[in-house]
Amino acid sequence: TGYDFGMVGLGVMGRNLLLNIADSGYSVIGLDKDTEKVASLTEEADKDHVKATTSAEEFISSLKSPRKIMMLVPAGAPVDSVIAELTPFLSKGDLLMDGGNSYFPDTNRRYDALTEKGIHYMGVGISGGEEGARRGPSIMPGGSAASYDFIKPILEAAAAKVNGEPCVTFIGHRSAGNYVKMVHNGIEYALMQLISEAYHLLKSGAGLSDEELKNVFTEWNKGELNSFLIEITSEIFAKKDEDGETLILNKILDRARSKGTGKWTSQNAMDLQVPAPTIDLAVVARDISAIKEEREAAGEIFPAKEYKLDASKEEVIGKVENALKFAFITAYAQGFAMIKKASDEYNYEVKIAEVAKIWRGGCIIRAAMLEDFRKAFEADASLKNIMVNDDLAKKLNAYQSDIRDCVKMGVDASIPMSATMASLSYFDLYRSGWLPLNLIQAQRDFFGAHTYERIGEEGVFHTIWK
Ligand code: 6PG
Repeated sequence: TGYDFGMVGLGVMGRNLLLNIADSGYSVIGLDKDTEKVASLTEEADKDHVKATTSAEEFISSLKSPRKIMMLVPAGAPVDSVIAELTPFLSKGDLLMDGGNSYFPDTNRRYDALTEKGIHYMGVGISGGEEGARRGPSIMPGGSAASYDFIKPILEAAAAKVNGEPCVTFIGHRSAGNYVKMVHNGIEYALMQLISEAYHLLKSGAGLSDEELKNVFTEWNKGELNSFLIEITSEIFAKKDEDGETLILNKILDRARSKGTGKWTSQNAMDLQVPAPTIDLAVVARDISAIKEEREAAGEIFPAKEYKLDASKEEVIGKVENALKFAFITAYAQGFAMIKKASDEYNYEVKIAEVAKIWRGGCIIRAAMLEDFRKAFEADASLKNIMVNDDLAKKLNAYQSDIRDCVKMGVDASIPMSATMASLSYFDLYRSGWLPLNLIQAQRDFFGAHTYERIGEEGVFHTIWK
C-alpha cells in the first residue's frame, strides 16, 4: 500500500501534472513547504487518492516502494537542495526525477551522484506550459532505459496523445532528456522570433491592422504552418483589454525576458560546432529588446527611412507565409542537427525520429510539419540535415524566392528581420559547395603560419607570403 507517485514542488506545473496523473487513477501525493499551496491542492482535488503535505517525512513514508518521485522546482540550486533534503530518506531502487528545465551538465552530475547511491535518477524534459501539464504535455525522459520502464506507464498516461500514441519516449542516457528539452526551447525561441518578425513586416511594412493580422494568422493555422505558436498568436491578435477597446498586445512593453534555455542552446551549439544561427539571432533579439532606452536614443540618431512597400497587402501576406514556412524548417533543422551531434558526442543514443514523433503533440513547438520531419528521419535515420530530405527540399525550393523577397522588403523598410535573415543565410551557407573561406585560410597562413590544405593534394602547406 501507499501512494503511487510523489511530486515535490506544487507550483503551477507540479500541481497540474500531479492532477493530470491522478486523473488516470494513480494515487498521488505532493510535497511543498508552502502551506497555502498544500491546502489549495487538497481542496481542489477533493479526492481520496490526492494528498498534499508540508512534511518530507510524511511524504516519503506515504509512498509505495520502490518510490517514484518527481521534482518540479526552479532549475539550479533549488534542485540540489531538494535532492540533499530527500536523499537521506530514499532507499536503493527508488526513482527520483527532475521535471524542470535543468541545465544538462547539472543533470549529469546529479545522475552520477545518485546512481552511485543506487537511486535511479532521471532528467525529464516536460513541455506544454500550464495547460499542457494539466491536459497532456510532451515528455522527454532521459536517464537509463531500466528506470524509464519503471515509470513508463505513468508518463504514458499523463502525456499528450497523437492518434492515440503518447507523446513520450525514452530519449537517451543520462542528461539526454534535459538536453533535448533545451534544444526544444532553442527552437521555441527561434519560431517565436520568426513569427514576431513576420508580424513586424506585416504591421509596419504592409500596414495590416490588428484585425487583419488576426485573420491572416487564423488562415495560416489552417495550412502548412499549422502549429501551437501560430494558433496562440492568432488569439493574441484578438484579445482586448478590460476596456473592450485596446488589444492587450498593444499595451505590452517590447522588452522580452528569458530564463536561459535559449542561450544555453546557442552556447552549446558553439561548443559542438553545430551552426544554429536562427536560434542565436532569436537570443540576440531578446537581448537587444531588453535595452529599450538605448534603442530609443539610437532611434533619434538613426531614424528609419520612409519607405513604401511596392506590393499589395495580399502579395506581402503570401510571401511572408512562405518565408515563415521556409524559416520554420531551417529552425527545426538546426535543432535536430544539434541533437544528432550531441547524441554522438555525449553517447546519448537518441532515436531522432522518436523525438520528432513526441514533439507532434503537447509541446510548445508542436506543429503539423513535425510529421514531415518524423517521416524524414524514419526513412533515413542517418540523415544529416532535414533540409536535404526530398520532400523538404522541394518545399525549400518552392519558398526560397519568397523568403528572399521578405528579407529584401525588410532591408528596404529598415525592419530588422534578423532571425529570418539568419535562416536564409544558414540555407545559403549550407547549399554552397564553394565558400570563400579559402581566403581565411590564406590570411591565417599569412599572419600566423597556420598552414592550409590544397585542393586535390595531400598534406598541409605553408607559404612565405612576403
Ligand atoms: C515549455 C516551455 C517552458 C517555458 C520556457 C520559457 O516547453 O513548456 O519551453 O519550458 O515556458 O522555458 O522560456 P523563457 O522564459 O526563457 O522564454
